[in-house]
Amino acid sequence: MSDTATFEYKGKKIEFPVVEGTENEIGIDIKTLRASAGVITLDPGYKNTGSCESAITYLDGEKGILRYRGYAIEDLAEKANFLEVAYLLIFGELPNKEQLDKFHSDIKANSEVDEDVKKIVDSFPRTAHPMGVLSSLTSALTAFNPSCVDINSEEDMYNAIVKIMGKFPVLAAWTLRRRNSKPYDYGNASLGYVENMLYMMFKKPNEEYKLNPVVVDALDKLLILHADHEQNCSTSTVRIVGSSHAGLFASLSAGVSALWGPLHGGANQAVIEMLEGIKEDGGDTAKYMEKAKDKNDSFRLMGFGHRVYKNFDPRAKIIKKSADEVLGDLGVEDPVLSIAKGLEKQALEDDYFVKRKLYPNVDFYSGIIYRALGIPTEMFTVMFALGRLPGWIAQWREMRLKKEPIGRPRQIYVGENLRPFVEVSKR
Ligand code: CMC
Repeated sequence: MSDTATFEYKGKKIEFPVVEGTENEIGIDIKTLRASAGVITLDPGYKNTGSCESAITYLDGEKGILRYRGYAIEDLAEKANFLEVAYLLIFGELPNKEQLDKFHSDIKANSEVDEDVKKIVDSFPRTAHPMGVLSSLTSALTAFNPSCVDINSEEDMYNAIVKIMGKFPVLAAWTLRRRNSKPYDYGNASLGYVENMLYMMFKKPNEEYKLNPVVVDALDKLLILHADHEQNCSTSTVRIVGSSHAGLFASLSAGVSALWGPLHGGANQAVIEMLEGIKEDGGDTAKYMEKAKDKNDSFRLMGFGHRVYKNFDPRAKIIKKSADEVLGDLGVEDPVLSIAKGLEKQALEDDYFVKRKLYPNVDFYSGIIYRALGIPTEMFTVMFALGRLPGWIAQWREMRLKKEPIGRPRQIYVGENLRPFVEVSKR
């Protein structure tokens, strides 16, 4: 495409190429801005800044569209399983039966974690937040799998990917088992990837663990819905850490830390805690609506709003339906579900929320499902991380294969100008 955008500053006009994506998104390529005009752009929070061209996930926040590698999220959530989606995100195409079986068996063959990692898990206080533990353990893996990934070797890349796909759920399960004082377990190799996650988390030493297909299906769907979301905070973190050529595991560990925050993945835990708080305070949702709108009150309606979705979050639509089905199938009556529905109804009719295009996001209902599945609240964000793992891997792989330069934003300095040093006795 030969379009250009003209930038004018102090009488000097500069033409910049316009880049058009496959879904007709337009970006102005300002790579040469500083060199040609001596200025930079300022965009805190990167609300208008594209950091890369990517072929993994497409989303249109105005129309509420989300696609992985061209496939609609609605189709994938309904018809695919999580491992197929992981393969699709990472390698670009849906796997055939043989590719999928090989992927799964390679993951299983690489799931073993060095015995010494158990000592590290044991050294955490039982009260430590599982996300802090998971981030540390992911980072610790670098010590036990020291070889660096040779990005020019497809085999090396593949091996690193199946290793982390195998070991990450083991580490996630062990964070829970540490918390619950249960022996560490590798699960059952005859089970599916998602089934084994549940088995590793909840199997009691002297009891058979019976898998409930409703629980497995619901978890599979949740993991698919969380699997990628283009350049969000944790994914950008993974890409930027990886851009310094830090290894895959180190980059993922940084991603886990970024996901932990309540404005990002930690929102699922924050939503349930908020709903519980409202319930304990008598269930007056109107009072909390007012608090959320009050600019002198730091309270925000957790699970509402999104940086990109300004119409509705398509994942929230799928999850809301799923929450009703799962709670019905499992016979769970959760009072916080009716508080959630009440809040949603009021917010959708409220001027403050309507004007700012604040709709329920993926995490508004996910916590309610996780709770119905028997997953403890502090583990919700870990479940999100388990789902986001293939997305992070896919984005890291894409960034390294494209040989992107190190991520290094600039700034506008607003501090003191040069001043003379004053000896301590004279200050
Ligand atoms: N409750 C009340 N007011 C809100 C909320 C909320 N949840 N979200 C945004 N606003 C207001 C905000 O105060 C601002 O108002 P004003 O224009 O009067 O100053 C306006 O809406 C725009 O908000 P913003 O913070 O500038 O928007 P953002 O794009 O920077 O932030 C967000 C997006 C998701 C961080 C934010 O909506 C939020 O904090 N939501 C609650 C936390 C949450 O649910 N996070 C999960 C996101 S989905 C999962 C994921 O992708 O990780």
